[in-house]
Amino acid sequence: MKTLTIRQPDDWHLHLRDAAILKAVAPFSAAHFKRAIIMPNLVPPVVTAADAMAYREQIVAALPPDSDFQPLMTLYLTEGSRADDIEAGFRDGLVTAVKLYPAGATTNSQSGVRNIEAVMPVLERMAEIGMPLCMHGEVTDPAIDIFDREAVFIERVLQPLRRRLPELRIVMEHVTTKDGVDFVQAAGENTAGTITTHHLIINRNAILAGGIRPHYYCLPVAKRETHRLALRKAATAGEGRFFLGTDSAPHVDPLKECACGCAGVFNAPNTLACLAHVFEEEGALDRLEAFTSLNGPSFYKLPVNERHVTLRWNDEPVEVPSKINAGGETITVFDPMFPIHWSVESGAS
Ligand code: NCD
Ligand code: ZN
Repeated sequence: MKTLTIRQPDDWHLHLRDAAILKAVAPFSAAHFKRAIIMPNLVPPVVTAADAMAYREQIVAALPPDSDFQPLMTLYLTEGSRADDIEAGFRDGLVTAVKLYPAGATTNSQSGVRNIEAVMPVLERMAEIGMPLCMHGEVTDPAIDIFDREAVFIERVLQPLRRRLPELRIVMEHVTTKDGVDFVQAAGENTAGTITTHHLIINRNAILAGGIRPHYYCLPVAKRETHRLALRKAATAGEGRFFLGTDSAPHVDPLKECACGCAGVFNAPNTLACLAHVFEEEGALDRLEAFTSLNGPSFYKLPVNERHVTLRWNDEPVEVPSKINAGGETITVFDPMFPIHWSVESGAS
């Protein structure tokens, strides 16, 4: 019987939403992960330390009673954010990181940053106090092709910022291109990259070939196969500055399956099973733990988790629900398009 025991994973990029969706999805993340970096793009967004405190309470209330899942809160950076408020939240231990959305780049990013100069005082303070910045790495310039928006962001925003504030700890989130991988590799110890489960599995054909499949549409949008292969290599090589951020981003089905559907893939229920499959395919099961459980804490300067989880390979494919219920609506679970044989043993020890 094939099993793999690893330190309990963390998810370094997660959307839990609020209200009925939060209640429906939080138990899936809490079942497998010890901690997660919680994205602040609610409506309205989580901007101040007080907002983060209130959201944290909502999350904790949505967890199963015996859960010790720890939400690591982030603040949504706006051009009106105050460095003192952000620093106070960080020093209190309430807030772990700040999230920068270029205005208009993705779901609920309208209040994000238009002009990076306007947030430089906040970024300078974060560099001083060692607070990580999570960046959604896409330009929003409508003249730039959607498949090029990450590469152009690196050139126009990330590289200049990297040079200007070398001490700032930057996470380039949900890297989807070889350009992103190359950037993180070349950028030195204060730069890391997260990679999602689905970008290791699908390329853009999944969305567009043989019919349009909205449940594979997310942002940054999946790119061509060469990019997927570069991501696989970075994730499975055990390189220390790449780690898991699932970007599990639930939307109810009517908002995905319509003429102008929302971006986001909901992968929390089967992420670890899918990752074990991918790492096994790459002959890298022995490096899964680095990607899910070691590299993230090391970059965020947090301890690794004490407990372990065991993944088991089952001879028969495992039944995974294709949809879950959230307040009377359904949310579709990521379908990796291969049979899932791995399962996570319940009860970390
Ligand atoms: C995310 C969402 O729905 O909040 N969507 C997505 O496609 N990833 C936003 C984001 O992380 O870009
Ligand atoms: Zn996201």
